Amino acid sequence: MKIAKKIALALLLIASLYGTGRFAMVAYDSYVFLPRQPYLQMQTQNSITLKWQTPKEEIGSVDYADSLHPRDVLHVSEKKASRYHFLSIEGLKPDTSYFYRVNASSLKIDNTERVFCTLNTKKDLERVWLVGDTGEDSDKQKYVYSQMLKYIDNNLSKIDMWVMLGDNAYTSGTQKQFNKDLFNPYKELIKQKNIWAVIGNHDARRWAFYDIFDFPTKGESGGAASKSEKYYSIDEANFHLVMLDSETEDRSANGKMAQWLKKDLAANKKNWTIVAFHHPPYTDGSHKSNNPKDSGGRMKEMRENFIPIFDKYDVDLVISGHSHVYERSRPMLNHTGDSKGFNEALHVKEMNLQSYMKPLAKTPNSGVIYIVNGSGSKADSGDFKIPELPIGYSVSGSVILEVTPTSLSEKFLSDRGEIKDSFTITKH
Ligand SMILES: [Fe+2]
Repeated sequence: MKIAKKIALALLLIASLYGTGRFAMVAYDSYVFLPRQPYLQMQTQNSITLKWQTPKEEIGSVDYADSLHPRDVLHVSEKKASRYHFLSIEGLKPDTSYFYRVNASSLKIDNTERVFCTLNTKKDLERVWLVGDTGEDSDKQKYVYSQMLKYIDNNLSKIDMWVMLGDNAYTSGTQKQFNKDLFNPYKELIKQKNIWAVIGNHDARRWAFYDIFDFPTKGESGGAASKSEKYYSIDEANFHLVMLDSETEDRSANGKMAQWLKKDLAANKKNWTIVAFHHPPYTDGSHKSNNPKDSGGRMKEMRENFIPIFDKYDVDLVISGHSHVYERSRPMLNHTGDSKGFNEALHVKEMNLQSYMKPLAKTPNSGVIYIVNGSGSKADSGDFKIPELPIGYSVSGSVILEVTPTSLSEKFLSDRGEIKDSFTITKH
């Protein structure tokens, strides 16, 4: 008995030492200070926020000017010295680009080609770059990125929005990994585009994600106020983009995220609605949505609890990452089970693979297209046999959307510059 007690005590001691050590490591990885070049956050129609980190405590400032009036330079400054800089610029005009420079003394800031834009209210053509599971710092990541740059003739003004689909920093989403896997490889893009990102399972292994990024909680960028950084929406000229946290947030049908989503989509007046989150409702790539235990049931829960909302409020496109492949459905409705219950006659709105029509007025069950694109820095093998997703490639690449008031064109652009898949939806 005595020996058993001693063993139990020793085990308890080891467990608590391990627990304390693990906690200390996670806290260190999550909050260790690192210098960081300025990046854009909280883009709205009238404001933008800059964040950066300097080795020494100092008062930071930003000079900026409307790109049409570059000589009328305005200046904003922080009030308190810090190593962590956070500066919001208010009173901006929508649909406008601004040149800016960030002033720091203990960090050499790369101020070349710094331009930010406010959200658009009206634009004939908007282009969105969506890329998933990019956090590998690999050659593939560089190729995927450079093919996108080639597609836009190296002219970043041809992109209106950049969306990251989760697993943005492997393997654990530490501060160091975010510098290595995101802030460094995309440094030119980061000088000009707001980082809009959803959290992936790898990002969630540490607490850095929601520390690094600031997302709207009061409907600042459009949509209903969510009171949470984990889910929110953005109104661009032609589309409404919803960002969800399928990793750490309650995914139940009556949870806060689902309740908010219903309210947000009910009030949405934009012609196009796009929803992004990390765990795909359907996939037969490096993850299997037919396996209810894969990813802790997250894919199944998103499918069962959120697809009825997407159907009801006429979402056009749902895009996820997580599976390191590219896959795509036709416009679908009312299919919340696994592939055994799939019936083309009931669950597919239009059978062709390239060109779809939808009514301009929001109409429930008019078809949601599901895209999986988790191959932004590596491609894994997939079976691609589930009937929900007739298109599947084990190819690294990213997605480009071109959105006008009445058309939405999608392209899957591979790391070799090939357009492996494309479709267009037209509304009338
Ligand atoms: Fe993932």
